[in-house]
Amino acid sequence: MRFDEYRDQTILITGAASGIGLAQVQAFLDQGARVIAIDRQPQPSCLPVTVKLSYQLADVTDAPALIAAIQAGIDVLGQPSIVCNTAGKLDGYQPTLATDLAAWQDILATDLTSQFIVTNKVLPAMLAQNHGVFVNMASIAGLVGGGGGAAYTAAKHAIIGYTKQLDLDYAGQGIRANCIAPGAIETPMNAADFAGDGKMAAWVASETPAKRWAQPQEVADLTLFLASRHADYIHGTVTPIDGGWLEK
Ligand code: NAI
Repeated sequence: MRFDEYRDQTILITGAASGIGLAQVQAFLDQGARVIAIDRQPQPSCLPVTVKLSYQLADVTDAPALIAAIQAGIDVLGQPSIVCNTAGKLDGYQPTLATDLAAWQDILATDLTSQFIVTNKVLPAMLAQNHGVFVNMASIAGLVGGGGGAAYTAAKHAIIGYTKQLDLDYAGQGIRANCIAPGAIETPMNAADFAGDGKMAAWVASETPAKRWAQPQEVADLTLFLASRHADYIHGTVTPIDGGWLEK
């Protein structure tokens, strides 16, 4: 997929060290964009050393550190016009009675509140330019139960609500916000499913109408479209990329 519009834009991506976020970083760099990449893990060796990439180490649950990392990236590459709020983690599929307050707050802080902090940091400059796009990572767990445990499912449902309200409040001022809801994507987050004899991964594939897992690049390709001007009239939506999981 080739887009001619990313060459002069700065993209901010959280969760940039692994899986879907890493694929998004690579996809936008391939399009010639500048990328501010944020993660608590160091820069992966597969990412190129280039003036177009500003890699910032930060824990997204640490608000001052996250805001400082965003600012450091902006100082190098300029204000982002596109944000991919991708950082997130699973909750071990635990029901509420197996979830203590600390675990609940950790999942909410990582998956949901980080998106709020990033958004409020970059939105004022976007409004000043009358242009800004958010691609927020939800999940099929944002639409149905069973894609995670109590905390993860609550966080992913909340991301969808937050994204709709964000879009509603600012759509008239040049802002677009949408969610992606991935199903089974083969990333380190799901390494446990592939461990051992890989029976769990095989079961997930067999339960998926498309009969396979997807690669993170497929989610990055969807991101490129959703962030582009070709999607200019797409507002406040949730796009599943799940091999048909939700149609059952
Ligand atoms: P991953 O585990 O491969 O990557 C997640 C990245 O987020 C890692 O680089 C990790 O270091 C970073 N991260 C996590 N907590 C952080 C923190 N506190 N501070 C800074 N960075 C932090 O996982 P994957 O699969 O790429 O997931 C990306 C997003 O996609 C997540 O929001 C996840 O919930 C969502 N998703 C993934 C699905 C899948 O099947 N892989 C399905 C549905 C949603």
